[in-house]
Amino acid sequence: MARRAALVLAAALLASSALTGCSTQGPAAGPSSGAGAGRGGTITLGFSQVGAESGWRTANTKSVQEAAKKAGIDLKFSDAQQKQENQIKALRTFIQQKVDVIAFSPVVESGWDTVLKEAKDAGIPVILTDRAVDTKDTSLYKTFLGSDFVKEGRSAGEWLTGAYANEPGPVNIVELQGTTGSAPANDRKAGFAEAIRGDGKFKIVASQSGDFTRAKGKEVMQAFLKSQKDIDVLYAHNDDMALGAIQAIEESGKKPGTDIKVISVDGIKDAFVAMTEGKINVVVECNPLLGDQLMELAKKVVAGENVPPRVETEEGVFPQDKAAAALPSRKY
Ligand code: AHR
Repeated sequence: MARRAALVLAAALLASSALTGCSTQGPAAGPSSGAGAGRGGTITLGFSQVGAESGWRTANTKSVQEAAKKAGIDLKFSDAQQKQENQIKALRTFIQQKVDVIAFSPVVESGWDTVLKEAKDAGIPVILTDRAVDTKDTSLYKTFLGSDFVKEGRSAGEWLTGAYANEPGPVNIVELQGTTGSAPANDRKAGFAEAIRGDGKFKIVASQSGDFTRAKGKEVMQAFLKSQKDIDVLYAHNDDMALGAIQAIEESGKKPGTDIKVISVDGIKDAFVAMTEGKINVVVECNPLLGDQLMELAKKVVAGENVPPRVETEEGVFPQDKAAAALPSRKY
């Protein structure tokens, strides 16, 4: 009986919230009543993007913008230009604007608790998109939508151990890390290290951030080529850095893919073209086309429906010999 009474009360509160446009919910307890959902049924989604650092990111932005349009969601889009402080400002603006739901792709993993608590106190649910945050309090967000970056790193390492199974070693590896402190950089590094740990012939001789950009990837690879006499393998945490590094390798008179094996992550078209040219040996896919799933989740959390704590995308591994067949159907 008590449960039934509570349900009736909750329904009444919800109805009154819809009429007045004011939240009657406790902190992040259920449906929010931000600017749109409370008035005319249109959901307003505040989305804070990392930046435009890579081909992956551009495809992700396009996917989110197109999916919002298709779903009839009012999207407030903000580009953080790879800076956490800009993202925190954007999230605070979304809170002031009383959006119905916030989604963001955190530049780095740590330092989010305060602003996420502010969103929670305002009754605005948060969806982590693509990248996770490092917090003990998982009530600060509703769900995570994206990839398993540790698995991606592991797949890269497993390809390498397979490719060199019959080689004596040592195998000298240089690593181009993503943005320092970001989830994909931390996790891809950890997954890769885990996969090669079992065989002492694999040695990471240099590892540095190229900030997920082509220009930085080239610059850091030039430095690696100067400081390291024997480089057998480049492991780049994304395609853009790999493509920048390929230019540096070619300018040094070496053949990428042959003299130095190249392993990369993402699967943008340019990387598939480079594979067909023999310049990249394997690409571990990371899917940026998260827009439709994000809109579905946004609708659900605004409606107060339960959502899984983690929604992972399915991804493949593409060695060079599969590139030509796969290239025509690449969507990003
Ligand atoms: O968070 C996903 C990563 O961010 C992609 O691998 C990279 O290209 C992007 O910048």
